[in-house]
Amino acid sequence: MITIGFPTAIDSTPHAQIVLVGPDMALSAAAAAIDTASAGQLRQALTTARFDGEAGSIVEIIAPAGVAATRVLAIGCGPADKANAAQFEKLGGAIAARLQTSGETRASVDLSGVTAALPLAGAAAHLGHGAMLRSYRFDKYRTTMKAKAKPTLEALDIVGVPGADVYHANLAAIAAGVARTRDLVSEPANIIYPESFVESARSLADLGVELTVLGEPEMKALGMGALLGVAQGSVRAPRLLAMRWNGTGNPDAKPVVFVGKGVTFDTGGISIKPAANMEDMKWDMGGAGAVTGAMHALAARKAKAHVIGVVGLVENMPDGNAQRPGDVVTSMNGQTIEVINTDAEGRLVLCDAIWWAQEQFNPEVVIDLATLTGAIIISLGHEYGGMFANDDGLAKQLKTAGETSGERLWRMPIGDAYDGLIDSAIADMKNVGPREGGSVTAAQFIKRFVKPGVKWAHLDIAGMVWAAKPGAVFDKGATGYGVRLLDRFIAENYEA
Ligand code: BES
Ligand code: MN
Ligand code: ZN
Repeated sequence: MITIGFPTAIDSTPHAQIVLVGPDMALSAAAAAIDTASAGQLRQALTTARFDGEAGSIVEIIAPAGVAATRVLAIGCGPADKANAAQFEKLGGAIAARLQTSGETRASVDLSGVTAALPLAGAAAHLGHGAMLRSYRFDKYRTTMKAKAKPTLEALDIVGVPGADVYHANLAAIAAGVARTRDLVSEPANIIYPESFVESARSLADLGVELTVLGEPEMKALGMGALLGVAQGSVRAPRLLAMRWNGTGNPDAKPVVFVGKGVTFDTGGISIKPAANMEDMKWDMGGAGAVTGAMHALAARKAKAHVIGVVGLVENMPDGNAQRPGDVVTSMNGQTIEVINTDAEGRLVLCDAIWWAQEQFNPEVVIDLATLTGAIIISLGHEYGGMFANDDGLAKQLKTAGETSGERLWRMPIGDAYDGLIDSAIADMKNVGPREGGSVTAAQFIKRFVKPGVKWAHLDIAGMVWAAKPGAVFDKGATGYGVRLLDRFIAENYEA
């Protein structure tokens, strides 16, 4: 990721200079200065390009005459009243995407006198945040990249805005959490498996996060038959990892618990998946990745809240020792489950992880995140995560956090009529319902493991953790979805 700085003046060595322009050729002070210095070249370029000031649109002048810059980028900032945090992140993202492999190593953007729908210091920090997030890359396995394809941009300076550093410190912590999640999600399953996932999380201790790890013997002793049934077909041993951050100063504060599905690879097990796109199932630990990245963000910015992240880590493989369709397993709370389809494994992992988390931490709120069903992608595509909740207040808080973070959620229904669809002929429940409403019956299954009085939301993020094409603040690949959502949820509801 690139580095963001807030110097008091633009560096005099030539580099890429960026200026903002609104609709109707509303040149910012810096844009007007460059237009004058270049004898009207900027305006002329904008007119020629049919530039309309749309947020994130860019007109580029290479080696402009009369200006000591390697190039000038005029970027549309949209109407001032719509220029909120998300809009500035989009601008930062567009700048990073355009310059990342341009050959430029340094860029500056002058925001002097710019008007926005939030304090300019915050706007500047969010522009930097968008640039950081968008410039993340996962290049570690590329050994033959052509020089021209390699990223060159190292730093973006934002000038003309005093006081942005304080906002930036928090946002940089969040960006680091997002990067951690993207690393975990991008890594293939021969590198990230339950044990190595835990090892990678150990560095959270440096931020003050307390780690607890359960191995197979401990989980067996606790009776986590559902989670262990999924794990038994793999040579990779399962793990349950808890990450605790208490920034309240009160050791007795009731925690919020996040629970993540951490299936480090999902072949489907004996109910094996088709070969096409099975490689995608390396990111079936995206819920666990989001929870881990959120814990990083919260600890790194020293959030004044008590939050615990729990991730259930298993690999779902077919094997001589794998569980069979029709097997009956007993979960930690004693309920029995007929495993009709070994590919509906996420709920089996979550039910034991959620039950353990409630027993262990007595939380007020439990929010689980999981790449749980293909059906949620059929319902919502890649625009919203699916939210199921037993509490309207919690649902509203999450929806709002989704809007402010840009990681949006759409509420889905739950109810008794759906619940009956997972009744089993020989056990307390079966792990799949009919094809119709597949995301809802998955949620109903999890709900059977939520204790009375606990506020609970289940976020099915199967459509959100991996992107086939770039977005405003991510390239194609791992998005890091969930980190900014959970961070905002805590900031807006527990730190006020
Ligand atoms: N990890 C998958 C869900 C998934 C599918 C995520 C595609 C992302 C893309 C999950 O474990 C699964 O296999 N779910 C099944 C459930 C079915 C067997 C009831 C599904 O969605 O097909
Ligand atoms: Mn599956
Ligand atoms: Zn899965």
